Amino acid sequence: MTATICGTGSYIPSYTMDNNDIARLVETSDEWIRERTGVARRHIAKDETTVSMAAEAAGRALADAGIPPEEVDLILVSTISSDVILPCAACEVQKEIGALHATCFDLSAACTGFVLAYNTALAYLSQGVYRTALVIGSESLSNLTNWKDRGTCILFGDGAGAAVLRAVDPEKRAYLPVTHSDGSKGAALSCKSRHDYNGLIGKIRPEAMLDESHYMQMDGQAVFKFAVKRVPEVIGEVLKLNRLDTDEIAYYILHQANKRIVEAVAKRLNEPMEKFPMNLQEYGNTSSASIPILLDEMNREGRLAAGQKLVLAGFGAGLTWGAAVIEWR
Ligand code: ACO
Repeated sequence: MTATICGTGSYIPSYTMDNNDIARLVETSDEWIRERTGVARRHIAKDETTVSMAAEAAGRALADAGIPPEEVDLILVSTISSDVILPCAACEVQKEIGALHATCFDLSAACTGFVLAYNTALAYLSQGVYRTALVIGSESLSNLTNWKDRGTCILFGDGAGAAVLRAVDPEKRAYLPVTHSDGSKGAALSCKSRHDYNGLIGKIRPEAMLDESHYMQMDGQAVFKFAVKRVPEVIGEVLKLNRLDTDEIAYYILHQANKRIVEAVAKRLNEPMEKFPMNLQEYGNTSSASIPILLDEMNREGRLAAGQKLVLAGFGAGLTWGAAVIEWR
């Protein structure tokens, strides 16, 4: 048994900040940001929360799949920026959408999170444990962004994307994912908890007590070098494992971190840029939401055809990276 994606959805906050808005906060320019990252604008959650965006994206994915919420057996939310610690975001989504029979939990693996959540759901569905799963990536990174740090605040944005997976008969070909982690390099991208275990015991630190380490900190060049080496490698591994050739892949849906990373991956794989769709110019890096948002856009624009093979590839904090092959419904 395996599973296919039978519906996608996304939610993007309407409030936007373009590069000129960022240039009013830190010393930078529209030209620098576009040239070094490809980002022109990002959407920021003002009235929305990680949970509300996740629930909206989930509802849209279920509508696209034509599946009522009562039929969902599993809800997985991948996030590093949930507004709730307890109950988990997935349980909050369950409540919002009325998925009464679902088992719900969250998963945290930064920008590789959606690929890992997809793999987790696939494993459950392939084993016959569940029949229908909702896999969601939702992030309010603006809450974790240091708006005084020009090395990071130019990159990130908020949003949510979701996919509905359904178990399908054994005749359909199953694909195995490849994933890796390297905890020894975790310092390249970090963000401390906002709990103050020493002073306030279990309390969230007040805004005034937060220092730079409580916001995302990144060694940009180290992350860049890691991504341009490891992402083509893991894509090569996943193709080899599944005995696929690059000719058979219609699109590579990469985590949307930086245009130059996507271009470098395409070059190393010797594949044309047309196979690497991008929307980071509009949304920036939305961490675990970026892959499902892009997938949903492509689905709704009618760019995906039945039987097409796609590679999803994520990479980010941890360090973590991985790739999965999907055959479009
Ligand atoms: N505006 C203007 N100048 C800047 C800015 C800015 N926003 N940021 C840095 N600079 C300056 C630096 O100070 C430096 O100046 P100097 O030469 O005088 O010292 C110069 O520009 C070059 O800085 P670099 O850090 O070398 O710039 P780089 O080309 O590496 O671009 C960037 C920085 C965009 C952050 C890049 O390294 C990058 O995209 N890295 C990958 C980030 C990423 O993909 N993260 C994904 C994981 S996200 C997750 O897991 C949550």
